[in-house]
Amino acid sequence: MTDSTFNAGAYYRLALAPEDRERLPRYAALVDALSTSSVACALLGEARAEQRNPMLVLAALHYNALVGDRVLAPLYAHVNEIDPGDFARGVVAALEERPELVRAQLHRATQTNEPGRSAVLAAILRELHSRGVEDVHLIDVGTSMGLNLYPDFYNINSPSDEGVNLDIEDLGGNVTRVGLPRIHERIGIDLHPLDPSNAEDVLWLKACLWPEQPERTTRFEHTLKAMKDWPSALRLTGSALDVIDDALSFCTPDAMPVVFHSWVAAYFSPEEQVRWREIIMRHVQSRATWIYLEHPWGVKGLAPPATTSDPPRSGATQIVVCELGGEPAHWGWAHPHGRWVALAAPS
Ligand SMILES: C[S@@+](CC[C@H](N)C(=O)[O-])C[C@H]1O[C@@H](n2cnc3c(N)ncnc32)[C@H](O)[C@@H]1O
Repeated sequence: MTDSTFNAGAYYRLALAPEDRERLPRYAALVDALSTSSVACALLGEARAEQRNPMLVLAALHYNALVGDRVLAPLYAHVNEIDPGDFARGVVAALEERPELVRAQLHRATQTNEPGRSAVLAAILRELHSRGVEDVHLIDVGTSMGLNLYPDFYNINSPSDEGVNLDIEDLGGNVTRVGLPRIHERIGIDLHPLDPSNAEDVLWLKACLWPEQPERTTRFEHTLKAMKDWPSALRLTGSALDVIDDALSFCTPDAMPVVFHSWVAAYFSPEEQVRWREIIMRHVQSRATWIYLEHPWGVKGLAPPATTSDPPRSGATQIVVCELGGEPAHWGWAHPHGRWVALAAPS
């Protein structure tokens, strides 16, 4: 069923941050073309309300290319050699001719699991360590495949032939070089945790990546391989609001639970966002620290703190940290996929 008040065209047009539009001319042309296609707009309206995200349609198209659709597979396989307008026209023509390609995937969720966000999380954890936090349990809410449960295992700005390299630009020049706190328990929560050993789950996460960035697919593959040697993590299935107390019950008193989420609370309903804030603030008063990376307009129910600095680039994610016993505070900005960070932690 479609919702006539939903402006799908605007959602498509605003799907990419301005800096990503510049970097990804074919995906920029594609979202613009989708925004003027009545078929594409109607399809987005058919998704359930919390998943009306252009990324779901983009992932559905990419998924069909990856499974060998006769029209989409060659377009996506050679995406970086094709004129942006030709790519967009080819993809939209396939979608308009066979909307069932996308419709069949609308039951899924946008589950993009971006390890680049671990570089932002690591910068925040380093800052907490410099303030005396030595031991933590990490609870990653909306963990998807769990790729952000290992901020201490990636090679961040220290490339190596071993393991997985992440590069992050320190735009504010404020990222401390002190070490990370020791991470004890690693607990991921998701409505539908994805399994790194399940081929269909891996395929869907590849589809959620952007085809003009083959380096992200390569990094995803390296991460899956490396994770086999990393410590095991506990995965809890269910809505964060229902499962968080269970997750915290696994956290022994020798370390502080850090409840972290990135690009997750925007999928909560406004009422769930308000309730989530109440639940977490109770835990913050007694034993936990809360960290989130979310776009402020998508999480108004969390009452994100006023920003004390403008984002250095538009489309940025706000970094919010609520230290044990404190109130949520603006700690700066980051690129949505962790390409850069501008940390502005209050002293
Ligand atoms: C866009 S993905 C982000 C994944 C990961 N946090 C990251 O930054 O790479 C959003 C994830 O949140 C999960 N999610 C959405 N609503 C949720 C809820 N109420 N409780 C738990 N997980 C949820 C989805 O299943 C999905 O895996």
